[in-house]
Amino acid sequence: MTETLAPSLPSLDQVEALVTSRRTSLLCDPDRPVPDELVDRLVELIRWAPNHKRTWPWRVAVVTGEGRARLGEAFAADLEASGRPADDPKVVKNRTKYLRAPLVLVVGAAPHDNELLDAENRYAVAAGIENLLLGARAAGLASFWASPPVCPRPRALAVCGFPADTELVGVVYLGWPIGEPPVPERPPIETNRVT
Ligand SMILES: Cc1cc2nc3c(=O)[nH]c(=O)nc-3n(C[C@H](O)[C@H](O)[C@H](O)COP(=O)(O)O)c2cc1C
Repeated sequence: MTETLAPSLPSLDQVEALVTSRRTSLLCDPDRPVPDELVDRLVELIRWAPNHKRTWPWRVAVVTGEGRARLGEAFAADLEASGRPADDPKVVKNRTKYLRAPLVLVVGAAPHDNELLDAENRYAVAAGIENLLLGARAAGLASFWASPPVCPRPRALAVCGFPADTELVGVVYLGWPIGEPPVPERPPIETNRVT
């Protein structure tokens, strides 16, 4: 049994439909832009994530057009600076991979001196990204949350206009869908009931 909280809120059935139908997908039209007002609404959802100590840690860059190539070149250069050769497949792929969608959101977290709060800042940003993905789903957009390259990323942070201490949490591709990805099998959650 569920109680109805308020008529304007989606029902649990609707929330379930939204959550379970969200897919990680790059099947999108890279040449069809996502309107700025829609992007702004989706970014707004990030800051409604729960956030311990109200540190408001989110840092967001919306990357479109030529910026996507600049972001890719910067990540590739960061990977090279960390010791990978220029012809390493990861380096080569980073140069062009952000062109696969019309829009890429780079989402980072502010660091914290306290180790627990530093982790909690990243958790809050991760929760914010899920808010954004669900909003994107509701708006009919395809989305794909990817991890940024694993290396120090000073050049990519500079392209994003982020402070150098930013901890990147995700690179999110958004675009209008041109296909449906398969639904991955998910094992059930083993829930322990402790009474
Ligand atoms: C923190 C995080 C990082 C991810 N990074 C990648 C990635 O680098 N490449 C990728 O293909 N998928 C990435 N994913 C997406 C997962 O592969 C995807 O969620 C999973 O396959 C389940 O599919 P679904 O999202 O459609 O349910 C990432 C997801 C999370 C939460």
